[in-house]
Amino acid sequence: MTSTLEVSPAARRSAELDAEITADASRFRILTGDRPTGPLHLGHYFGTLHNRVRLQRRGVELGLVIADYQVLTDRDVADDLDAHVLGLVADYLAAGIDPQEAMIFTHSAVAALNQLMLPFLSLVTVAELQRNPTVKDEIAHSRQAGVSGLMFTYPAHQAADILFCKANLVPVGADQLPHLEVTRTIARRFNDRYGPVFPEPEALLSRAPLLLGTDGTKMSKSRGNAITLGATAADTARLIRSAKTDAQRHITYEPGTRPEVASLVLLAALCEDREPGEVAAEIGGGGAAALKARVTEAVNARMAPMRALRAELAADPGYLRSVVREGNARATERAEVTLGQVREAMGTRY
Ligand code: TRP
Repeated sequence: MTSTLEVSPAARRSAELDAEITADASRFRILTGDRPTGPLHLGHYFGTLHNRVRLQRRGVELGLVIADYQVLTDRDVADDLDAHVLGLVADYLAAGIDPQEAMIFTHSAVAALNQLMLPFLSLVTVAELQRNPTVKDEIAHSRQAGVSGLMFTYPAHQAADILFCKANLVPVGADQLPHLEVTRTIARRFNDRYGPVFPEPEALLSRAPLLLGTDGTKMSKSRGNAITLGATAADTARLIRSAKTDAQRHITYEPGTRPEVASLVLLAALCEDREPGEVAAEIGGGGAAALKARVTEAVNARMAPMRALRAELAADPGYLRSVVREGNARATERAEVTLGQVREAMGTRY
């Protein structure tokens, strides 16, 4: 029988993987990444970034792709890509990613990675690409009048992002699971058809619950409802002051019935490393004003060291660029080795 408490198979497998990582982190290689569409916000931080830093500190090898071609799947213009890429690197490093260990690269700079997409596309059918739920959802929210070919091919491109370095673990949100299925399918079919080259990577689902934006809808860069990693303390206070709450005075943590209040409570709890129920009980009759004061204080205290570091990094774009260049060189070396193995397997080494 299905109950709301039932854990999905993907979540159960993620918990097992977590235990395997604790037992031996050196078995795992992670590849994950982001589109450079603007600064990262607290939803990204608590949803994925914090977890990446944690995994890296446990000794898992980490690759981060800055998906600068994927940006073009749902819009016609790639505005300010250079600034967005450097901003993303600053966000990563400020959050605690170690650039000596992690390979941070832009996929447009890694020619051999992109070339893998051609044999990969031959391994999936048009129908499979068309019925991919993530692609369908992104088409529904696209800002383009017509859907471009890139929209359909990018799950295969994402497979190339993951497989060029033979990553076996991909930390993603549940919305990205269909893409990971495409990657696994491509790896399996390639190995069956041409011989064993690729691992079948697994998803590592984030355990963090979803944070809402200050207007009660999904936290998103484009909706003006997001507190960015690099926001000032004053910007943070202003955004939280304007946040939506509800008519009930007493503060509780009830995500199902009071999503806006619950999301604010959750944000304070995440920043303070506490349980949201406890935080809500402490505020109780203090109402929305006390809640907002608590959230503002918690966010600003938790983010202060990261923000200071981020400001220092942002003042040195030459350094940020050198991190990307170094990552691009390392990724290119890896991708060329893998492409060599693919050529060997396919019999296209002349
Ligand atoms: N599609 C991801 C997003 O929009 C970004 C991404 C590109 C990615 N390549 C990846 C994530 C490979 C994981 C693995 O957020």
